[in-house]
Amino acid sequence: MGKSFNVAVAGATGAVGNQMILCLEKRGFPIDNIKLLATRRSAGRKLRFNSEEIPVEELTETSFRGVDIGIFSAGGATSQKYAPFAAKDGCVVIDNSAAWRMDPDVPLVVPEVNPHAVAEYSKKGIIANPNCSTIQMVVALAPIHRKVGIKRVVVSTYQAVSGTGKKAIDELHNQTKAILNFLEPETNVYPHRIAFNCLPQIDVFLDNGYTKEEMKMVKETQKILEDDSIAITATTVRVPVFFSHSESVNVETRNPISPDAVRALLEDAPGVTVIDDPARNLYPMAIDAAGRDETFVGRIRADESIPNGINLWVVSDNIRKGAATNAVQIAEVLARNYLSK
Ligand code: A2P
Repeated sequence: MGKSFNVAVAGATGAVGNQMILCLEKRGFPIDNIKLLATRRSAGRKLRFNSEEIPVEELTETSFRGVDIGIFSAGGATSQKYAPFAAKDGCVVIDNSAAWRMDPDVPLVVPEVNPHAVAEYSKKGIIANPNCSTIQMVVALAPIHRKVGIKRVVVSTYQAVSGTGKKAIDELHNQTKAILNFLEPETNVYPHRIAFNCLPQIDVFLDNGYTKEEMKMVKETQKILEDDSIAITATTVRVPVFFSHSESVNVETRNPISPDAVRALLEDAPGVTVIDDPARNLYPMAIDAAGRDETFVGRIRADESIPNGINLWVVSDNIRKGAATNAVQIAEVLARNYLSK
């Protein structure tokens, strides 16, 4: 008989939490007992897991007693407060928020890229799941970095509203409906209307003029690729798409590499599917990536303005690989290689 674990999902009623439950189920993660946690408001609500109706419980400081793995997606403040209580009770936390990502004693893991970093969970009992836009970018960049070295990355993102949670999904839906019915749309979630619009702001602005999301892409990419010498600049944009982030990624490599060689490299890379057939108008699109676990790469071509430049178009479901799938993959590495149960 293989090992099996007691697992808790904190933020189980949210957009990502919901997907985490589905992902644990779909990937057949070995579970003895599952605890679904949210605020007191949701306590008693029932959620389905493996055809069982599980009542949601209120998340408290003692929720993690007897739990082996706690997967958190309930916002930064919740993780900041409750992850240490979980760790104290011997529960390893896999945290989807930004709260712990840049802590030097917390590994930041994308299993296709740096699975070895999971070992550092023992320092604080916490493993951080990276930002959604960073995850899909590093899945595509890591094979290139290993082969020829990456000197600089210029990335612009086109990010789906689901990254902001259920309220934002409803807001895009309601605003679109209102506008198509000649009614005044209500704006509650973002600083401006998102329907039929693009917002060059994700998260708050920092003193350097970048948004927090943009600086996450810089710092987290360097941490995951274990190379602070990679120069990165990002512009992150919210677009009226429900699921899947798209990214235009311009890469300057240290050594030369042809677009064909990049294509071959990515065709062999774990977690990547190449869709790149311009003659047939084929390239990755948000609507096709939604509901999938892979990172899709296309539009692979030389940046003809510099000697060693490559352009990529990278698309992935931000709720799946960008959050839930990556977290469950981390749990799989942890369970397989580090937990003894
Ligand atoms: P609830 O549904 O009870 O409010 P989303 O990102 O889709 O908005 O979801 C956020 C998730 O995090 C929800 O499951 C929400 O629960 C949960 N959550 C938010 N704040 C807390 C908190 N302080 N304690 C426990 N769960 C929280």
